[in-house]
Amino acid sequence: MTQDALKQAVALAARDYVAAHLPAGAILGVGTGSTANLFIDALASIKDRLGGTVASSEATRRRLEGHDIRVLDLNEVEEMEIYVDGADEIDPGMAMIKGGGGALTREKIVAAVAKTFVCICDESKQVATLGRFPLPVEVIPMARAHVSRELIRLGGVPQLRAGFVTDNGNLIIDVQGLHITRPAELEARIDGIVGVVTNGLFARRGADVLLLATASGVVERGRDSA
Ligand code: 5RP
Repeated sequence: MTQDALKQAVALAARDYVAAHLPAGAILGVGTGSTANLFIDALASIKDRLGGTVASSEATRRRLEGHDIRVLDLNEVEEMEIYVDGADEIDPGMAMIKGGGGALTREKIVAAVAKTFVCICDESKQVATLGRFPLPVEVIPMARAHVSRELIRLGGVPQLRAGFVTDNGNLIIDVQGLHITRPAELEARIDGIVGVVTNGLFARRGADVLLLATASGVVERGRDSA
């Protein structure tokens, strides 16, 4: 099975998960990336059940609106039942690296509001220890050099993502060489560097449910069984 076929399979499984678990008329948070895009396309078939969606990026907002799916400003939303998003890596404790698409800050904000974070990915994203995928860090432009120096002090090898500006008008530094055994600790430490907006570790608020596409089908795992 190709990776694209696995992404398609998990996108359909996520649509079915939403159909089964989202109360009619409730609000759904929608992530960003190629897996999330396939999920959005599948979601179109149950759009009448949704009270509305919140998009984690401008690209996701455009894709949802392309299917005539209602997109709300997060500030208008008091409660969000489910947030569905992909990941670049996920570990056995359901901590993730996200932000390969550069949408990490809005993704983390939407995830913070959601009651249930459903991570959708193929089995290539499953790792024993986070850090093989470079960790994205969103920074205020004038802090780029300072943040890079601090990331080197933490043992990383920072590289500016060339020609990329986030939806929030900031830069992304991708950090290689981190072997992340304590993701929640490192998440807090990097967020504490002045000039960092967010980093792509989703450990303090990890996934609650994992829908994992494997060659033999999509497997559902909860926090305790991951
Ligand atoms: C975007 C993300 C994505 O969820 C992550 O990069 C996975 O993307 P894909 O589904 O294309 O593999 O965090 O900021």
